Amino acid sequence: MQQTVTTAKAFRGTLGVSANKSISHRAVILNAIAQGEAIIEDFQRGADCLATISCLRRLGGSFRWRGESELAVKGLGSRGLHEPASVLDARNSGTTIRLLAGLLSAQPFLSVISGDASLNARPMARIVEPLTQMGADISGRDGGRLAPLVIRGGSLRGIHYRMPAASAQVKSALLLAGLYADGETVIEEPAPTRDHTERMLANMGADLQFGEGPAVRIRPLAGELTAISLRVPGDISSAAPWLVLASAHPDAEIQIAGVGVNQTRTGILDCLTLMGADIRLEGGEFWGAEPVANIFVRSSQLRGITIDGDLIARSIDELPLLALAGCLAQGETIIKDAAELAVKESNRIRTTVEGLRALGANLEERQDGFRIWGPQKLRGAVVSSHGDHRLAMMLAVAGALSQGETVVRQAESVSVSYPRFWLDLERLCLA
Ligand code: S3P
Repeated sequence: MQQTVTTAKAFRGTLGVSANKSISHRAVILNAIAQGEAIIEDFQRGADCLATISCLRRLGGSFRWRGESELAVKGLGSRGLHEPASVLDARNSGTTIRLLAGLLSAQPFLSVISGDASLNARPMARIVEPLTQMGADISGRDGGRLAPLVIRGGSLRGIHYRMPAASAQVKSALLLAGLYADGETVIEEPAPTRDHTERMLANMGADLQFGEGPAVRIRPLAGELTAISLRVPGDISSAAPWLVLASAHPDAEIQIAGVGVNQTRTGILDCLTLMGADIRLEGGEFWGAEPVANIFVRSSQLRGITIDGDLIARSIDELPLLALAGCLAQGETIIKDAAELAVKESNRIRTTVEGLRALGANLEERQDGFRIWGPQKLRGAVVSSHGDHRLAMMLAVAGALSQGETVVRQAESVSVSYPRFWLDLERLCLA
């Protein structure tokens, strides 16, 4: 499917974005192995989170929809999962395969987990290696570097692991394995990554320490996790297209309600503010363990900056959009330390450069990011998302900021994280 995007004359309105994908995955995985029943309000019903639910169902998980986006989860307890009768399909979702691999390593049965072509080309050694050190028995294609993964679960031991690259998926896989291990598991991260797993586990009664220094520690479950009901905040990654569109557009004013502003996720707000964006937050509320705010954004004159270090992990999924912001900003923007972008749903360094260049942008592809010269006048063209939801949304925003018509191919990929994206774009952009 393709979508045509025309120049937005103005960009205005109020919206609530798609719910947080990372929190939704964790809410169903952790509640499935907890004791009790949980109600999850505003569950993110995109393809990735639905893949997690369908894998958990094959493992014995019990879920019931109560309307559009409210989900009841019946906890099975920490020993309640059973051997799946067929291959678990994580589809396009890195979070599904990596978190479940950590959990399945500790279960007393065999599981096979696979995904679509994109997922089966993404690196899995990052979880297979530390889980193997914990005593797990995992094999996969290419010597255990690629899915499908065959996991023969069993007893695990706690380890002290220094992650070579910042990854919340790896950290979370090890935390899930650590719940079942013999002894303490300590995970050190090179930069702080999203801590949704830690917050939720702590709320459910797990014995863990986090948020003080670079190490997260977890001790094995003494009893059971307690199921917790929660309302999932809006995903800042789904707010990000609108933050960039409003900041870069000369006639824009929008309000986004109920966005999760956990500080491990707000790199995009910090980067845009450094670039001169006019962003204001009204907040103070917590939904479960997560802080939430309403975000107000208005037109501004952006200027180029350097984005590197800890800011990268805090804005990892927003970097293609920040590259677009760089194309429209005055001066040079450099994004570095972001080699991880090359192993996302697409090689996002390459696909971002290809898409933005087709629209007339002036930017260089680097091994660990981009060098961008702005401001550039973008003009409409035919571009492709390469099946990557974040690319589809970035290119749609670029199209709305370009002169003339832009056609985004493989536009359906937005359904992975933001099924209503095209409807929201149409509603907020005044022609
Ligand atoms: C995610 C972590 C990030 C992010 C992905 C979701 C998560 O991946 O890019 O979209 O839910 O834990 P890495 O942990 O591989 O960086």
